[in-house]
Amino acid sequence: MSGPADGVWIFGYGSLIWRPDIPFLESRVARVRGWKRRFWQGSHDHRGVPHAPGRVATLVPDADASCEGVAYFIDGVRLQETWADLDHREKNGYRREAVRLEFRDGTAADGVLYVAPVGNRAYLGPAPLPEMAAHIAGSAGPSGTNIDYLRRLAGELQRLEIDDPHVFRLERCVEDLARADAPLPPARPAPTGGGAGLQREP
Ligand code: SIN
Repeated sequence: MSGPADGVWIFGYGSLIWRPDIPFLESRVARVRGWKRRFWQGSHDHRGVPHAPGRVATLVPDADASCEGVAYFIDGVRLQETWADLDHREKNGYRREAVRLEFRDGTAADGVLYVAPVGNRAYLGPAPLPEMAAHIAGSAGPSGTNIDYLRRLAGELQRLEIDDPHVFRLERCVEDLARADAPLPPARPAPTGGGAGLQREP
């Protein structure tokens, strides 16, 4: 299955799941094979600052893995503005990558995602879970707290019945820290879905 010739499917696996802010015509849960979602990317511009970057999601190649997220179909007439907005939003180390998307109904289509490749200038890489959790619990940037990013992602994955042990384990670890420690800022109100008005995420 594929969309109209002048449109594109854009796949989101991080903040694009819960705050797409792009003018999509349709959204669907989709899977990309050969990638796994990991909180291994630094965020200097959204969930952290240059001297104290936050930790956000990227995709890491793994031939045995796959990652589920949400694909958005963008009409050709809105593509130019969408690329401009997303290129700006994902400017801290992410680049576009062509992928094959598999939908839950068994159909498939070509698509594009933003990946922050291993070794990019903001890349943090793996760390022990408690270390990543403490990092996230203590980070914040212009788009809000880092824990808010993680909570929203975990909440949306749960709602969409997408299993991701990496995200859920990390969230449990951060919530344990939050309970044990000083009060953390509450999550912001739920997003209102796609449409106009691009925000600066993650
Ligand atoms: C994405 O959501 O697909 C890219 C990473 C992010 O913006 O969190």
